[in-house]
Amino acid sequence: MNNPSRSDRSPSGPEGRAALEQFQLSPDLFHLNHGSYGAVPKLVRDEQDRWRAHIESNPTGFFRDELPTELRRLAGVAAERFGGRAEDWVFCENATAAVNSVLSSFGLPEGDEIVTTSHVYGAVLKAMRIWAQRFGAKVVVAQVPVIVGSEEQVVQAIAESFSDRTKLLIVDHITSATAIVFPVCEIVNAAHARGIAVLVDGAHAPGHLPLNVEAIDADWYTGNAHKWLFAPRGCGLLWTAPKRQAQTLPVVLSHGAPDGYTRAFDWIGTRDATAWLSFEAAVCFHDALGGESLMARNRKLAADAGEMLAQRLGMQITAPASMRGAMTCLTQRPSSLDAAHAAALIHRLRECCSAVLPVYVFEDALCFRISAQIYNELADYESLANAFPVALQQEIGF
Ligand SMILES: Cc1ncc(COP(=O)(O)O)c(C=O)c1O
Repeated sequence: MNNPSRSDRSPSGPEGRAALEQFQLSPDLFHLNHGSYGAVPKLVRDEQDRWRAHIESNPTGFFRDELPTELRRLAGVAAERFGGRAEDWVFCENATAAVNSVLSSFGLPEGDEIVTTSHVYGAVLKAMRIWAQRFGAKVVVAQVPVIVGSEEQVVQAIAESFSDRTKLLIVDHITSATAIVFPVCEIVNAAHARGIAVLVDGAHAPGHLPLNVEAIDADWYTGNAHKWLFAPRGCGLLWTAPKRQAQTLPVVLSHGAPDGYTRAFDWIGTRDATAWLSFEAAVCFHDALGGESLMARNRKLAADAGEMLAQRLGMQITAPASMRGAMTCLTQRPSSLDAAHAAALIHRLRECCSAVLPVYVFEDALCFRISAQIYNELADYESLANAFPVALQQEIGF
């Protein structure tokens, strides 16, 4: 197949609900949760379908002759986009797989500590605890308040959790539950000053904010292309600093494992590689929608919608505008509502106003998070502002 990863067609430029036609999303819903699972554009789905058909035409030739070369070429596309060299980048299923690979490779001696923050993604914290237990190491959680006032506050909370036994820090670039952009450059500097290695979990970052992994200068950086960069699901990325590559292996070890970093990740048995093979088409789609200007547009929409919702609902936003991206988390605290109420609210909001978004309890706060993507417009969030008090009243009777 002749360079099937390059799309000839560009998406046209509608914004708001008119842009929904470029996606497979139901027009009957207000999709306010791009952040969790992304949304695959029709053009990118078509590209993935083309790859599926191509692979089926000659699986043997594809896996033996084409896949290794194509993956390395696409690693070069990641490097062009996010910094570093092609040989620093590998594809993996998702950020979860990348985090586990780093944890399993790191090999903490008994008694050593891994630090993270109270805003860490839940699945990552669970993985940290299990790997730490296997090594006899300890997980230390730096307490960052639910509502953050400044970047310095985050850096200080993390730095105060370091001890002489701290060997690894895992820190989010954009937090999931609270939608805060952490000052990762300053955090990496503070950790490196103490000789502590850093894995930045940038699950939400690619396509969400301008990203240059070399400027961040961590030891590892993982991100998902299947959230904000429009790739099919299962398109995770891991960048590893050259000095860490010799020690970095995937959790699942296969033919490539003895042959170094990129070969170990590029060949982990027989897998569906079509999400990675569609990576460049996703990058082109993101560019065609404006690239950096799309990210700025989404950020402004999330800010405007967040301010409007905060005012209408009497809720607070978890961080100043300078620490937010294309998601805003609104919170009400303290709250007597529990996880069951939050789950019921999700259903009620869908019934009341066809809005799909995460509602949850984080520490002592009832929270919901909105995302802003090309197919959203302010009216989507106004529907939510009208429906939220009704849903709350139906659920808890006040
Ligand atoms: C900060 C963070 N880390 C990790 C993940 C896990 O991503 P995935 O399920 O694609 O592995 C998420 C998912 O939303 C996240 O927000």
